[in-house]
Formats: sequence, C-alpha cells, structure tokens
Amino acid sequence: MNVITAQNITKIYGTGESKVTALDDVSLNVAAGEVVLIMGPSGSGKTTLLLVLGTLLHPDSGVVTINEQNVHELSNRDLPGLRLRKIGFIFQHFNLLSALTAQENVMVPLLIAGVKSSQTKKKAGELLKRLGVAKRAGSLPQNLSGGEKQRVAIARAMVGSPSILLADEPTANLDSKTGHEVVEILYKYAKEEGKAVVIVSHDQRIRDIADRVVLIEDGKLKEV
Ligand SMILES: Nc1ncnc2c1ncn2[C@@H]1O[C@H](COP(=O)(O)OP(=O)(O)O)[C@@H](O)[C@H]1O
Ligand SMILES: [Mg+2]
Repeated sequence: MNVITAQNITKIYGTGESKVTALDDVSLNVAAGEVVLIMGPSGSGKTTLLLVLGTLLHPDSGVVTINEQNVHELSNRDLPGLRLRKIGFIFQHFNLLSALTAQENVMVPLLIAGVKSSQTKKKAGELLKRLGVAKRAGSLPQNLSGGEKQRVAIARAMVGSPSILLADEPTANLDSKTGHEVVEILYKYAKEEGKAVVIVSHDQRIRDIADRVVLIEDGKLKEV
C-alpha cells in the first residue's frame, strides 16, 4: 500500500521574469517499507519536492495524499497533527533548537502533540540511546559534533514513529563513518519498522540500499 502519493505536482516560485518552475507535473508514490532515493543536480527541485511531500509547502497544482488522506483537504488546524503523527523531517542543516538540550530537542514533537512530559522524556532518552548519542542527552547543540547533531535530528524525526521519514541530504555534512551509520539507521527504519523513507542525496551508499531511484532534472521527475 502507498503511504504517500504525489500526483501531478507543479510548484512555481516567483512571478514574471523571476518565475521558476521548481516542480513540473511530478508524480511519485512510496510504499510502506520502501526506501526511495531522489537524485538530481543542484537547483533541480529536490528540496521543493520533499517540502511538498512533507506538507510544509503548498503546491500550485496537484494532490498529495498521506495514508489515503488528501492533505490539501485538511484545515490549518488539522495539518500540524497530521505532520506530528505521520511525517518525520530530517533537514540538511539539522535545524536543532539551540537553547534546548539534545534530549529536549527530541522531546519537542511529542510535547507539541500533548504527550505527557514524563513519557516524552523516557521516549526521547530511548531513541538517543538507540542512535548512539545517549551520553550527549544533556548537551546543547553547540557542543555536539556534526554527526551527533544529525543523530539527534534523526531521533527527533523518529520520535513520533511517523509513517514517513523525509531526509534532505542527511549525510552531506558528515564524515564517512558517521554517514555510513546514518544510512544504516534510515534503512532499518524502513525495513524493520515498515516505514516509507524518502531521501534526497548524492551519496553512493544510499544508492546501494535504495529500493528505487528517481531523478529530477529541471523540475521533471523520471524513474531510473
Ligand atoms: N523560496 C524560493 N523562492 C524562489 N525560488 C526558489 C525558492 N526555493 C527554491 N527556489 C528555486 O527553485 C528551484 C529548485 O530549488 P530546490 O528545490 O531547492 O532545488 P534542489 O534542492 O534540487 O537544489 C531552484 O531554481 C531554486 O533557485
Ligand atoms: Mg536542496
């Protein structure tokens, strides 16, 4: 079953002479347990597609469904709830909250979802342990290495057990060993937990583990 579908998505930035068609009639389906890799040159529309899939950006036309729910039919009140329960987002530059510790960063999605504080602390602690950064639970992001920050960001993306994990160049700012470990973590999340994982990357290691590779060029997508 498809966890996420995008049908005929078009996204245009700007108007007049500065108009850019970032996505041009793009369709993509991702099933549970599947790892899909999105590749393409810089500026081809990869991040835009991830943002649209993650409901963080509204397309000009086309439909995104998550577990068969058309996300454009949801009100602005219902969308955050769907994001919290269904979608985990891993950003290239981690986007951790600098005033919060690693553990607190991981707790944030659950706290917003209204989960009890004692439970969120426990869950966040477990995930940090699973990702090998339990010792850094009390550290602020500024005191973490790039690899540690990315693991904390991945823990935050996974804490609500979302059905979809979207990762934008998750290994681009990591050394080779840490990058390899991050690839493992994403792969296991799809295969052991039956989740849909969509990764934008140029990393050959992700190409090796991906079930499918799609290529974007000038906003147009094709299967490889
Ligand atoms: N917020 C924005 N405003 C205007 N143009 C944008 C914006 N974000 C991206 N673009 C343009 O849309 C195109 C696709 O960008 P992006 O999705 O970031 O590509 P990629 O992630 O493949 O590098 C590029 O030409 C980029 O300059
Ligand atoms: Mg990008």
